Amino acid sequence: MYKKEISKAVINRLPRYYRYLSDLLEKDVVRISSKELSERMNVTASQIRQDLNNFGGFGQQGYGYNVEYLHSEIAKILGLDRIYNLIIIGAGNLGQALANYADFERRGFHVSGIFDVNPRLKGLSIRGIEIMMMEELESFVKENSIDIAAITVPKSKAPQLAQELVNMGIKAIWNFAPTDLHLPKEVTVENVHLSDSLMKLSYRISERDKA
Ligand code: NAI
Repeated sequence: MYKKEISKAVINRLPRYYRYLSDLLEKDVVRISSKELSERMNVTASQIRQDLNNFGGFGQQGYGYNVEYLHSEIAKILGLDRIYNLIIIGAGNLGQALANYADFERRGFHVSGIFDVNPRLKGLSIRGIEIMMMEELESFVKENSIDIAAITVPKSKAPQLAQELVNMGIKAIWNFAPTDLHLPKEVTVENVHLSDSLMKLSYRISERDKA
């Protein structure tokens, strides 16, 4: 769709633009200048212009940005103009917390199923979604068009599980297990490691304390 290769840094900033624009929409703000947006977001106006110019601009000289239009265009770029069916594998603390977080649905990520190996969890419901056993996974994936699998099992189990998911036809993995997954190139993996974020915070605390 876009001829130019978009840098990872720009893609990493888009969800934040989307979030700010969602807030503005909720407040019925119709338009915003890049200066105002930059002040709210604490990035330079030229950074915003440069980022959005990657996708053809969207702004008008002297008018700024139409919030609704920019919001919907960024949604399209981020692929948020459709529904994604998501399954969660591992219904422990983290898996249940993810399943309980209803806001993902608002963004178009529908939790279709939750799976675990522990028979004690069988039949338990989280936000109306029943936990199923792993034996049911393959047929569930076949019968429902599943776009994303979240991995919230122990680290030692994650690589094999990821491979099994790929064999079932899953093409996108949201990996929370603290291990790198080595999967075919056509499989998209997004790793989420809260502890990396905490380590960055502790680095900044120790730098501040040294100063
Ligand atoms: P937990 O022990 O509460 O839950 C793990 C669940 O996975 C259990 O219910 C267990 O029965 C199930 N399980 C084990 N093997 C399985 C398999 N082969 N297939 C399906 N289910 C299986 O653990 P918790 O605290 O929920 O953590 C889960 C994972 O998430 C761990 O790898 C942990 O390190 C990671 N984690 C990652 C965070 C992050 O920021 N990325 C934050 C917290 C945890």
